[in-house]
Amino acid sequence: MSHEPPIYLDYASTYPRREEVMAARRQFEESSYANVGRANYDLAEAALVAYQDSKKTVAAWIGCEPVEVLYTYSATYAINLLALTMEHNGVIQKGDTILLSLSEHHANIVPWQMLAERVGAVVKFVWLDEHYCIDLDDLKNKLDNTVKVVSLQYASNVTGAIHPLEKVRDIIGSERLFIVDASQMGLHWPLSMSDIHCDAMVLSWHKMMADTGIGVLALWKVLQKAWQSPVSGGWAINFVHTDGYEQAGIPERWEPGTPHITGAVTLWAAVGYLQKISPEQKKDYAHLIELIDARFESYIARGLQVFHSRKTGSIGVWSFALSGKHPSDIADVFADQGICLRSGHHCCEPLHEHLWVAWTVRMSIGYDTTQAEIERFFAVLESLL
Ligand code: ALA
Repeated sequence: MSHEPPIYLDYASTYPRREEVMAARRQFEESSYANVGRANYDLAEAALVAYQDSKKTVAAWIGCEPVEVLYTYSATYAINLLALTMEHNGVIQKGDTILLSLSEHHANIVPWQMLAERVGAVVKFVWLDEHYCIDLDDLKNKLDNTVKVVSLQYASNVTGAIHPLEKVRDIIGSERLFIVDASQMGLHWPLSMSDIHCDAMVLSWHKMMADTGIGVLALWKVLQKAWQSPVSGGWAINFVHTDGYEQAGIPERWEPGTPHITGAVTLWAAVGYLQKISPEQKKDYAHLIELIDARFESYIARGLQVFHSRKTGSIGVWSFALSGKHPSDIADVFADQGICLRSGHHCCEPLHEHLWVAWTVRMSIGYDTTQAEIERFFAVLESLL
């Protein structure tokens, strides 16, 4: 085992905590901690203001209105909640089709497969192009009248590909529901739900330096008003009697129970941190991606399989495999040198089947990754070839 500080190259899995985010959490817990939405004393009001400020900040970051921001347990839970909601409101019925891409994370596959099983709908997958982006011709081919929902990731956690979502919206038209899983994307630049014209977007905030156990479901307010929530309890109702209840207005009807209040504060602080990332830092990050791409490319002739989208603007995630070496053993070699990588199917089995590889090793960078760290990574890779 190496005794040097570990080199963390698993940013796609979770982004290490930043002092600014932990400090904001500490400060809130020491000065303003109370439950929200249930009392009028000063502490409770301060906590509610912090919770609402968090939603305002997130709304500005992702281009929607604060009332459209719902906090859930995780991005995965957000998609599950959406699928349950659609079932509960009869939006998806027998014979309908839900369209996904082959690049999706299991979080954006299994909730739809389960919904389809329950109501007799069908899940279909759109192919990918040579850049691992959704193939727009195949999307057009699969777009018949049965397609009610199209749910796609914004960026891949395996190949770094960014999908052309604005073009997707143009192709699928405004009558179909369009859902975007932006879990890998929130970190990279402010998103714009209003530019993409999607109906819902989910995000995973621990990938953006905030707490685990909090995800965002941004749901268009017109749909929030039109639909009943499939979950309820405290804070999510107008009244309850022994013979019935009435669900609260929006967004409360979607957030039963005490929310992850300190998580919301970390989310606010994480966006504050990301807003301070300068154009120079972003340029350095993009430049580092180009350098890493070129280095990986130089090893292909020596038997390395690399899965990374070479389309400009892709995010810093590379998956790779070496014939004759198990990805888990490769990751162990790196771990012995103090380098943190993930191996496996990265919760994307259909994508790995499409790539004709069972597992890969994944390296992913963040804004703090240095060239020296990358040199150490490639020195270990070189030793394996
Ligand atoms: N979805 C996370 C990843 O890609 C956990 O590693």
